[in-house]
Amino acid sequence: MKVDVLLGLQWGDEGKGKIVDVLTPDYDIIARFQGGPNAGHTLEFNDFKQVLHTIPSGIFRENKMNIIGNGVVIDPIVFKKEIDNLKEKGFDISENLYISKKAHLILPTHRLLDAASEEAKGKSKIGSTLKGIGPTYRDKTGREGLRIGDILSGFQEKYNERIQKHKIILEKLYGFDYEELFNSCEKDWFDGIELIKKFKLVDSEQLLNNSLKEGKSVIAEGAQGTLLDIDFGSYPFVTSSNTICAGACTGLGIAPQKIGKVFGIFKAYCTRVGSGPFPTELLDKTGEELRKAGNEYGSTTGRPRRCGWLDLVALKYAIMIDGVTEMIMMKADVLDEFDTIKICTGYEINGEVTEEFPYELNDSVKPVYVELPGWKTDLTGITCQNEFPEEFNNYINFIEEETGVPISIASVGPKRAQTIFLNQD
Ligand code: GDP
Ligand code: IMO
Ligand code: MG
Repeated sequence: MKVDVLLGLQWGDEGKGKIVDVLTPDYDIIARFQGGPNAGHTLEFNDFKQVLHTIPSGIFRENKMNIIGNGVVIDPIVFKKEIDNLKEKGFDISENLYISKKAHLILPTHRLLDAASEEAKGKSKIGSTLKGIGPTYRDKTGREGLRIGDILSGFQEKYNERIQKHKIILEKLYGFDYEELFNSCEKDWFDGIELIKKFKLVDSEQLLNNSLKEGKSVIAEGAQGTLLDIDFGSYPFVTSSNTICAGACTGLGIAPQKIGKVFGIFKAYCTRVGSGPFPTELLDKTGEELRKAGNEYGSTTGRPRRCGWLDLVALKYAIMIDGVTEMIMMKADVLDEFDTIKICTGYEINGEVTEEFPYELNDSVKPVYVELPGWKTDLTGITCQNEFPEEFNNYINFIEEETGVPISIASVGPKRAQTIFLNQD
């Protein structure tokens, strides 16, 4: 058996949570491979809506094994909140959730270091989610991190040592007033650790590879998006993990030849939260219309998302890096009202047009657009491909022809049912 991977092709928030939940019935195991509580994955079914930050999006389907992989970073405070919140709503997920012993812990001071670093950067800040992601991955690669497996022995000593060092950095490097903030959250953090201890803490790479041998099917759930990847995103305005398909190998302990399908998810337009370049961004009325129609506000931070037209240069780059085998187009319904819809097919840089994603996306990059007719039809109630308006079919065909990758699902609303499988003869 192989591992199918589902990941974002843009700057995150493409709708990964919704589609993992939709596809989960086809799989035995759902495994998150990177990121942490910077993610906000929204699921909607019946009259129920939930945003998940650390827990994989397969958790609401019965009898599915959900794994938080070694590539993920876990904040015990956020984790406990998620679990408590689900319990309040009647979901006890303790039987189905497995956590890798090799996943790293976000310490209370990592969050403060994130805040201090952003504050110190001033205007050039990353616009991070302030969840401590950067400092935690920095300690991981700096070989100073604490892992879930460390909880099981000699933990307090290792913890104290790290915290001490972080406090010195906060004080001496940043002059950051941490005392009150730190004291107010340390107890909650340890309550979270106690809760984590009650879960199945496993060598998830063994569990996954053994399961594959037994013929079990696995879907790997990405967080963020390819353009936020630490290596290939718009550095330094990126997150601190490998969000690309290769991240599923390192984040779960899966060999490359075990990767099967690669589902690349994209919105029918583009959004971005936080700072950094965004060539097709619309700072005008049209951008506001997209934000309003798409309800584009961060699932984790509530920040308004920046909005713009679909960017095929960036999309093709993501497809190349990820080896996408099929695409999933999200939020098509958000474009229902537009008379015409633009798609960026090239970048003009110093008078020359290129279709190649450049080293740096600076101000000299100008998008070149084609304009397609809008469908001016409410897609949200559509139940099969035969009902698609002609202009919508054209929009899909245009993207498929430009990228050379088939679109297998079009999503026309946030609910499970608003998902149309294409070309299902
Ligand atoms: P993720 O981080 O990739 O899981 O995406 P988010 O959950 O952060 O953001 C996607 C938002 O769009 C959520 O509020 C979803 O409920 C919503 N959504 C998902 N698919 C669709 C769709 O096809 N149409 C509309 N209008 N909303 C959608
Ligand atoms: P999901 O999984 C959208 C962005 C932040 C910031 C940058 C770095 O829901 O798609 P970080 O806190 O990771 O150090 O922030 O990355 N970012 C996201 N944007 N969706 C996400 O996750 C994101 N996770 C991080 O806004 O620009
Ligand atoms: Mg999100």
